[in-house]
Amino acid sequence: MGKLFAAITGVQGYVPEDVLTNQDLEKMVDTSDEWITSRTGIKKRHILKGEGKATSDMGAAAVEKLMSKTNTSPDEVEMIICATVTADMKFPDTANTIADKVGIKNAFGYDINAACSGFLYALTTAAKFVESGSHKKVIVVGADMMSSIIDYTDRTTCIIFGDGCGAVLLEPSEEPCGVLDSVFKSDGSGREFLHLKAGGSLMPTSEETVKKNLHYVYQDGRPVFKAAVAGMSSTIKEVLERNDLTTDDIDWIIPHQANMRIINSVAHMLDFPMEKVIVNIEKYGNTTAGTLPLCLSDFENQFKKGDKIILTAFGGGFTWGSTLLTWAY
Ligand code: UT7
Repeated sequence: MGKLFAAITGVQGYVPEDVLTNQDLEKMVDTSDEWITSRTGIKKRHILKGEGKATSDMGAAAVEKLMSKTNTSPDEVEMIICATVTADMKFPDTANTIADKVGIKNAFGYDINAACSGFLYALTTAAKFVESGSHKKVIVVGADMMSSIIDYTDRTTCIIFGDGCGAVLLEPSEEPCGVLDSVFKSDGSGREFLHLKAGGSLMPTSEETVKKNLHYVYQDGRPVFKAAVAGMSSTIKEVLERNDLTTDDIDWIIPHQANMRIINSVAHMLDFPMEKVIVNIEKYGNTTAGTLPLCLSDFENQFKKGDKIILTAFGGGFTWGSTLLTWAY
């Protein structure tokens, strides 16, 4: 048997029905549609509502549709990885809850927490299992219910985030397509600028932590912005160089959707045309691990077999990186 590649053979996104627009936010905090649009590019986000609803419900909705559109029966799925920072519970992991909700019984699963880079880290992890020949059908989910950890009185964060997810199926291929290479980095000192203080072992939940609003996302936006532009553009360059490619060889760049100005800056630094940069931030905001698979899903019909695509992300940790892939269908 020759070398195996991990091809993406299907993709499916999911966002919940309820929508939170910039106009709605104008009534909740001191902000304006003009500020949000010009500073971030976001117009609306989707919010998961309803008692008992959680990240796994979005993941299950995406995985169920993904299996049906790829004619995959639940019994065939051997592995499921879920990238999320908003697991249903602190433990167990959400991957196995999703599997249970969609009837996947022959798989093992676990979560990966790498914030906005989670989907990329999970995709490459899953690809290794497929490339080794040990697993034939692996599902990777990127899902976040950010509304569960956002303070809707904090205008610096509540305007950015939304709920959503996407899932991809990875299968072995003997053609050189699929996930080809990844350059990943992390820097734990970045935790100062983007984190959720309480509820972990450092600061267990108490009356005090709840009173002080410490169970919500904290972000110092400017240093994150700068590090995101530098981190995404440098890892794109690195993955191109080590594969003897230039930006001219790339059909699409799919960046993490955190801020339109970050996306524009990355494209500008690479001198890459914006027509080939995938953007849907205006519809969903930043769905953390959900943004990249939601982009793949929204633009699936525009990709052609053989297209060279770069996925790039930056997030809490700090974590960041870029993945080179060839579209397989
Ligand atoms: O996905 C994970 C990684 N996260 C990111 O990549 C996010 C990176 N950061 C960003 O996207 C941007 O830094 C933000 C969108 C979070 C903020 O934009 P900014 O241009 O960096 O604004 P800023 O924080 O420098 O604030 C500028 C001004 C401040 O007022 P003063 O101090 O100049 O008077 C803020 O108080 O804008 C004010 N401001 C707002 N005004 C209206 C902050 N949030 C708002 C708001 N509406 N929602």
